[in-house]
Amino acid sequence: MKREQWNSRVGFILAAVGSAIGLGNIWRFPYMAYENGGGAFFIPYLFAMISAGIPFMIMEFSLGHRLRGAAPKVFANLGNTYGLRLEWLGWFQVFIAAIIAIYYVAIIGWAISYLSFSISQDWGSDTNHFFFKEYLQLSDNSPTSLGGFQLHIAIPMTIAWSITSLAIFTGVKGGIERASKIMMPLLFIMVLALIGRIVFLPGALEGLNYLFEPDFSKIFDAKVWSAAYGQIFFTLSVGFAIMLAYSSYLPEKSDINNNAFMTVLINCGFSILSGVLIFGVLGYMAQEQSKELTDVVSSGVGLAFVTIPAAINLLPAPYILGPLFFLALVVAGLSSHISIIEAVTSALIDKLNINRKPAAIIVCGTGFVLSMAFATSGGLLLLDLIDYFINNIALLTSCFIELIILAWLFKIADIRDYANRLSDFTIAAWFDLCLRFVSPAMLAIILVKNVINTIKNGYGDYPISDQLLLGWGLIASMLLVSLFINLFTSNSEDAL
Ligand code: ALA
Repeated sequence: MKREQWNSRVGFILAAVGSAIGLGNIWRFPYMAYENGGGAFFIPYLFAMISAGIPFMIMEFSLGHRLRGAAPKVFANLGNTYGLRLEWLGWFQVFIAAIIAIYYVAIIGWAISYLSFSISQDWGSDTNHFFFKEYLQLSDNSPTSLGGFQLHIAIPMTIAWSITSLAIFTGVKGGIERASKIMMPLLFIMVLALIGRIVFLPGALEGLNYLFEPDFSKIFDAKVWSAAYGQIFFTLSVGFAIMLAYSSYLPEKSDINNNAFMTVLINCGFSILSGVLIFGVLGYMAQEQSKELTDVVSSGVGLAFVTIPAAINLLPAPYILGPLFFLALVVAGLSSHISIIEAVTSALIDKLNINRKPAAIIVCGTGFVLSMAFATSGGLLLLDLIDYFINNIALLTSCFIELIILAWLFKIADIRDYANRLSDFTIAAWFDLCLRFVSPAMLAIILVKNVINTIKNGYGDYPISDQLLLGWGLIASMLLVSLFINLFTSNSEDAL
């Protein structure tokens, strides 16, 4: 089957940027920066971007371009050159993408609901009670006893699935590329318009001071580095099959280095813009309520769905700024969700040698059904627990193994040569250094710390049985099924 291709370079970059910029930038980055000492977070974040983000992106773009396949096919082909069976790593990454896709869509669903609430601030003055009790109907359920099905959450999730499915169904050029060309400029315009208004509000600049003022003492805190590294892989969509699939649709002549730099820099620049937006709003809110910034902010999910709605209540023209914020969140989320689902669909197309449409029906259909588990009153707990294990254990493990295989088993300089041959500007040996030493060392330390910490203390207050089942159990089964596919089915590469 002839592989689909992007129509233009701009189209590819917008799609890659669309994948990278997502809930991770607007929903996760600002509270991560906040929790890790405000401005101090930038130093480890930029270090992680340069030592891991950019080299990883160049590596994945090169592999996808060279081996023309989704993750399982890429690793199967790589392994074949050395007589090794590595396809399982590709499937492990595909499973990570699949799991992220089914909970990620729930957050997009909430954002769609909030987009409609924001028009007349239906969330009222107690936004905390509204979000957790009235909207999510969060009860004392555990992640495994989900409680009642919430139709009002399932409906916006279905809308999100419909948009994603349409893009995937229509294909690389007509669906994903076209959607990205509409969504990305729209997103930037919305966020810049919001910032343009917010920074002139009283107190906004104090909020920004908090974000940018570095607290150098934090730089010695291992937790801050761990958060920065963890965030960089998620936000850049590397290590979980996405960028491999996207770059496999690149035309023969493609400037890998330039594309990778642009994708990373635009994404990280956008994260800083989101930080400016969120902290500007928080600064204004603190001033309006005569409180300290640290007293108005909440972390995690609460920031986007509790604190921001409360701040919107205080804004001038909330009926414009509110919908703009939530529409930006929806658009950012959808363009990433499309890429996550494409990573899975593309793997299925390669493996089963089937057309896009049946593959899209299988992936979106199954994803839709499974994601409904998050449209329940225990959905948030389920999401929180799975998100923790997938991001802090599974994704970092996958990135670590990918690095070890590519930088130590294979010759990473070959990948650099390949990228350099295709690119206008060349990458020097710092690339090898980062991928062979700096990133694996950082990842190993963080991963070991996360594993020990999670074994010792667990995560949150969830029952141990739930953590064993939905955390460790889930990751172990993803690995086992990946190995099973690798050992007992014909190699993805055979379908070439
Ligand atoms: N890269 C996507 C995000 O940041 C997954 O949300």
